[in-house]
Amino acid sequence: MRKHIVAGNWKMNNDLPQTESLITDLKKQLQTSEAEVMIAPSFTNLWHAFEALRLDDIEVIAQNMHFAENGAYTGEVSASMLTSIGIKTVILGHSERRAYYNESDADLAKKVDAALVNNMRVIFCFGEELSDRKAGNEESVVKSQIESALFHLSADAFNHIVLAYEPVWAIGTGETATPEQAQDMHAFIRKTLTDKYGETTANNVSILYGGSVKPNNAKEIFSKPDVDGGLIGGASLKAEDFFAIVNAF
Ligand code: G3H
Repeated sequence: MRKHIVAGNWKMNNDLPQTESLITDLKKQLQTSEAEVMIAPSFTNLWHAFEALRLDDIEVIAQNMHFAENGAYTGEVSASMLTSIGIKTVILGHSERRAYYNESDADLAKKVDAALVNNMRVIFCFGEELSDRKAGNEESVVKSQIESALFHLSADAFNHIVLAYEPVWAIGTGETATPEQAQDMHAFIRKTLTDKYGETTANNVSILYGGSVKPNNAKEIFSKPDVDGGLIGGASLKAEDFFAIVNAF
Protein backbone atom coordinates (compact mmCIF):
# COMPACT_ATOMS: atom_id res chain seq x y z
CA MET A 1 0.00 0.00 0.00
CA ARG A 2 1.20 3.49 -0.71
CA LYS A 3 3.03 5.54 1.90
CA HIS A 4 2.28 8.88 3.46
CA ILE A 5 5.20 11.24 2.88
CA VAL A 6 5.94 14.77 4.04
CA ALA A 7 9.00 16.32 2.41
CA GLY A 8 10.44 19.73 3.24
CA ASN A 9 11.98 21.51 0.26
CA TRP A 10 14.28 24.15 1.72
CA LYS A 11 14.94 25.62 -1.75
CA MET A 12 17.87 28.14 -1.69
CA ASN A 13 17.61 28.80 2.04
CA ASN A 14 19.89 28.07 5.00
CA ASP A 15 23.68 28.30 5.01
CA LEU A 16 25.68 25.83 7.10
CA PRO A 17 25.11 27.43 10.54
CA GLN A 18 21.41 27.83 9.77
CA THR A 19 21.26 24.23 8.58
CA GLU A 20 22.89 23.04 11.81
CA SER A 21 20.45 25.07 13.85
CA LEU A 22 17.35 23.88 11.97
CA ILE A 23 18.49 20.25 12.23
CA THR A 24 18.94 20.67 15.99
CA ASP A 25 15.38 22.01 16.16
CA LEU A 26 14.04 19.18 13.96
CA LYS A 27 15.63 16.57 16.22
CA LYS A 28 13.92 18.15 19.24
CA GLN A 29 10.51 17.98 17.54
CA LEU A 30 10.98 14.51 16.06
CA GLN A 31 8.51 11.90 17.22
CA THR A 32 7.20 8.69 15.77
CA SER A 33 5.04 9.55 12.82
CA GLU A 34 2.83 7.68 10.43
CA ALA A 35 4.39 9.59 7.54
CA GLU A 36 7.86 9.23 6.04
CA VAL A 37 9.67 12.51 6.71
CA MET A 38 12.26 14.02 4.37
CA ILE A 39 14.16 17.28 4.06
CA ALA A 40 15.90 18.68 0.99
CA PRO A 41 18.69 21.11 1.92
CA SER A 42 20.92 22.79 -0.68
CA PHE A 43 23.77 20.80 -2.23
CA THR A 44 26.39 22.44 0.00
CA ASN A 45 24.63 21.20 3.13
CA LEU A 46 23.59 17.72 2.01
CA TRP A 47 26.56 15.89 3.45
CA HIS A 48 26.35 17.67 6.78
CA ALA A 49 22.59 17.05 6.99
CA PHE A 50 23.00 13.41 5.99
CA GLU A 51 25.62 12.83 8.70
CA ALA A 52 23.65 14.73 11.33
CA LEU A 53 20.44 12.79 10.66
CA ARG A 54 21.97 9.39 9.92
CA LEU A 55 20.40 7.82 13.00
CA ASP A 56 17.08 9.65 12.88
CA ASP A 57 13.88 8.99 10.96
CA ILE A 58 14.37 11.92 8.62
CA GLU A 59 15.65 11.18 5.13
CA VAL A 60 17.90 13.78 3.53
CA ILE A 61 17.12 14.22 -0.16
CA ALA A 62 18.37 16.39 -3.06
CA GLN A 63 16.48 19.19 -4.80
CA ASN A 64 17.78 18.47 -8.29
CA MET A 65 20.47 16.66 -10.31
CA HIS A 66 21.84 16.52 -13.86
CA PHE A 67 20.95 13.74 -16.31
CA ALA A 68 24.55 12.99 -17.32
CA GLU A 69 26.76 10.64 -15.32
CA ASN A 70 29.69 13.09 -15.44
CA GLY A 71 31.39 15.46 -17.86
CA ALA A 72 31.71 19.10 -18.84
CA TYR A 73 28.59 20.47 -17.13
CA THR A 74 29.93 23.30 -14.99
CA GLY A 75 27.96 23.81 -11.80
CA GLU A 76 26.00 20.58 -12.04
CA VAL A 77 25.73 17.50 -9.79
CA SER A 78 25.15 13.92 -10.96
CA ALA A 79 23.10 11.07 -9.50
CA SER A 80 26.23 9.08 -8.64
CA MET A 81 27.66 12.07 -6.76
CA LEU A 82 24.50 12.11 -4.68
CA THR A 83 24.40 8.38 -4.04
CA SER A 84 28.11 8.41 -3.11
CA ILE A 85 27.22 10.51 -0.05
CA GLY A 86 24.19 8.41 0.81
CA ILE A 87 21.41 10.39 -0.87
CA LYS A 88 18.76 8.04 -2.22
CA THR A 89 15.94 10.38 -3.29
CA VAL A 90 15.85 13.42 -5.58
CA ILE A 91 13.19 16.02 -6.38
CA LEU A 92 12.88 16.52 -10.15
CA GLY A 93 10.77 18.86 -12.26
CA HIS A 94 10.01 21.48 -9.63
CA SER A 95 8.20 24.38 -11.28
CA GLU A 96 11.01 26.75 -10.26
CA ARG A 97 13.47 24.56 -12.21
CA ARG A 98 11.09 24.50 -15.17
CA ALA A 99 10.48 28.27 -15.09
CA TYR A 100 13.90 29.71 -14.21
CA TYR A 101 16.21 27.10 -15.78
CA ASN A 102 14.09 26.11 -18.75
CA GLU A 103 13.92 22.44 -17.81
CA SER A 104 11.85 20.78 -20.49
CA ASP A 105 9.78 17.63 -20.33
CA ALA A 106 12.48 15.94 -22.47
CA ASP A 107 15.24 16.99 -20.01
CA LEU A 108 13.12 15.67 -17.16
CA ALA A 109 12.59 12.31 -18.83
CA LYS A 110 16.40 11.99 -19.06
CA LYS A 111 16.83 13.03 -15.42
CA VAL A 112 14.23 10.50 -14.29
CA ASP A 113 16.05 7.77 -16.23
CA ALA A 114 19.42 8.76 -14.74
CA ALA A 115 18.02 8.70 -11.22
CA LEU A 116 16.42 5.27 -11.70
CA VAL A 117 19.57 3.79 -13.28
CA ASN A 118 21.35 4.91 -10.11
CA ASN A 119 18.72 3.23 -7.93
CA MET A 120 17.37 6.52 -6.66
CA ARG A 121 13.79 7.34 -5.81
CA VAL A 122 12.28 10.33 -7.64
CA ILE A 123 9.80 12.88 -6.35
CA PHE A 124 8.50 14.12 -9.68
CA CYS A 125 6.83 17.55 -9.60
CA PHE A 126 4.37 19.04 -12.05
CA GLY A 127 1.41 21.38 -12.03
CA GLU A 128 -0.48 23.94 -14.04
CA GLU A 129 -0.08 27.73 -14.20
CA LEU A 130 -2.91 30.03 -13.17
CA SER A 131 -3.63 30.79 -16.85
CA ASP A 132 -4.09 27.06 -17.52
CA ARG A 133 -6.59 26.75 -14.69
CA LYS A 134 -8.48 29.87 -15.76
CA ALA A 135 -8.76 28.39 -19.24
CA GLY A 136 -9.96 25.06 -17.83
CA ASN A 137 -6.85 23.28 -19.14
CA GLU A 138 -5.37 22.13 -15.84
CA GLU A 139 -6.02 18.43 -16.43
CA SER A 140 -4.60 18.36 -19.95
CA VAL A 141 -1.47 20.27 -18.84
CA VAL A 142 -0.87 17.92 -15.92
CA LYS A 143 -1.52 14.83 -18.04
CA SER A 144 0.94 15.99 -20.66
CA GLN A 145 3.66 16.73 -18.06
CA ILE A 146 3.26 13.25 -16.57
CA GLU A 147 3.10 11.48 -19.93
CA SER A 148 6.15 13.20 -21.40
CA ALA A 149 8.47 12.57 -18.49
CA LEU A 150 7.23 9.24 -17.13
CA PHE A 151 5.17 7.21 -19.57
CA HIS A 152 8.18 5.61 -21.24
CA LEU A 153 8.80 3.80 -17.92
CA SER A 154 7.75 0.27 -17.01
CA ALA A 155 5.09 -0.30 -14.36
CA ASP A 156 7.82 -1.61 -12.03
CA ALA A 157 9.67 1.70 -12.22
CA PHE A 158 6.75 3.29 -10.39
CA ASN A 159 7.90 1.53 -7.22
CA HIS A 160 10.58 4.26 -7.22
CA ILE A 161 8.44 7.24 -8.23
CA VAL A 162 6.52 9.61 -5.99
CA LEU A 163 4.38 12.25 -7.69
CA ALA A 164 4.01 15.81 -6.41
CA TYR A 165 1.17 17.92 -7.78
CA GLU A 166 2.07 21.55 -7.27
CA PRO A 167 -0.22 24.09 -8.93
CA VAL A 168 2.17 26.94 -9.77
CA TRP A 169 -0.33 29.55 -8.63
CA ALA A 170 -0.28 28.10 -5.10
CA ILE A 171 3.51 27.96 -4.60
CA GLY A 172 4.81 30.52 -2.11
CA THR A 173 1.72 32.66 -2.64
CA GLY A 174 -0.22 31.81 0.49
CA GLU A 175 -3.05 30.76 -1.82
CA THR A 176 -3.53 27.03 -1.50
CA ALA A 177 -5.69 24.81 -3.65
CA THR A 178 -8.84 23.94 -1.75
CA PRO A 179 -8.83 20.38 -0.40
CA GLU A 180 -11.50 19.59 -3.04
CA GLN A 181 -9.37 21.01 -5.88
CA ALA A 182 -6.41 18.97 -4.64
CA GLN A 183 -8.51 15.80 -4.34
CA ASP A 184 -10.06 16.26 -7.80
CA MET A 185 -6.66 16.64 -9.41
CA HIS A 186 -5.08 13.78 -7.44
CA ALA A 187 -7.97 11.49 -8.45
CA PHE A 188 -7.44 12.55 -12.07
CA ILE A 189 -3.71 11.81 -11.79
CA ARG A 190 -4.44 8.38 -10.35
CA LYS A 191 -6.91 7.68 -13.14
CA THR A 192 -4.30 8.73 -15.69
CA LEU A 193 -1.91 6.21 -14.14
CA THR A 194 -4.63 3.55 -14.00
CA ASP A 195 -5.44 3.98 -17.70
CA LYS A 196 -1.81 3.42 -18.63
CA TYR A 197 -0.50 0.98 -16.01
CA GLY A 198 -3.53 -0.52 -14.30
CA GLU A 199 -5.05 -0.14 -10.86
CA THR A 200 -2.42 -1.94 -8.82
CA THR A 201 0.39 0.33 -9.98
CA ALA A 202 -1.75 3.47 -9.72
CA ASN A 203 -2.91 2.63 -6.20
CA ASN A 204 0.64 2.08 -4.99
CA VAL A 205 2.00 5.47 -6.11
CA SER A 206 2.07 8.19 -3.45
CA ILE A 207 0.79 11.52 -4.76
CA LEU A 208 1.84 14.55 -2.71
CA TYR A 209 0.29 18.01 -2.80
CA GLY A 210 2.49 21.10 -2.70
CA GLY A 211 1.59 24.78 -2.59
CA SER A 212 1.22 26.85 0.58
CA VAL A 213 0.62 23.88 2.88
CA LYS A 214 0.71 25.27 6.43
CA PRO A 215 -0.03 23.90 9.92
CA ASN A 216 -3.54 25.35 9.73
CA ASN A 217 -4.57 23.72 6.45
CA ALA A 218 -2.57 20.48 6.34
CA LYS A 219 -5.07 18.32 8.19
CA GLU A 220 -7.92 19.08 5.82
CA ILE A 221 -5.79 18.63 2.70
CA PHE A 222 -4.27 15.36 3.99
CA SER A 223 -7.71 14.02 4.88
CA LYS A 224 -8.55 13.62 1.18
CA PRO A 225 -8.32 10.02 -0.01
CA ASP A 226 -5.96 10.58 -2.93
CA VAL A 227 -3.66 13.03 -1.13
CA ASP A 228 -0.80 10.98 0.30
CA GLY A 229 1.28 13.77 1.76
CA GLY A 230 2.88 17.09 1.02
CA LEU A 231 5.89 18.80 -0.50
CA ILE A 232 6.38 21.74 1.82
CA GLY A 233 8.34 24.89 1.00
CA GLY A 234 8.12 27.91 3.32
CA ALA A 235 6.65 26.05 6.27
CA SER A 236 9.51 23.52 6.25
CA LEU A 237 11.95 26.23 7.36
CA LYS A 238 10.61 26.23 10.94
CA ALA A 239 10.83 22.91 12.79
CA GLU A 240 7.65 23.55 14.76
CA ASP A 241 5.58 24.32 11.65
CA PHE A 242 7.08 21.44 9.71
CA PHE A 243 6.27 18.89 12.38
CA ALA A 244 2.82 20.33 12.89
CA ILE A 245 2.29 19.45 9.20
CA VAL A 246 3.91 16.00 9.57
CA ASN A 247 1.66 15.30 12.54
CA ALA A 248 -1.42 16.34 10.60
CA PHE A 249 -1.66 12.70 9.44
O1 G3H B 1 8.50 22.49 -3.06
C1 G3H B 1 7.63 23.06 -2.41
C2 G3H B 1 6.61 23.85 -3.07
O2 G3H B 1 7.16 24.66 -4.05
C3 G3H B 1 5.67 24.56 -2.15
O3 G3H B 1 6.25 25.72 -1.61
O4 G3H B 1 4.99 25.60 0.54
O5 G3H B 1 6.36 27.62 -0.02
O6 G3H B 1 4.22 27.14 -1.27
P1 G3H B 1 5.39 26.57 -0.52
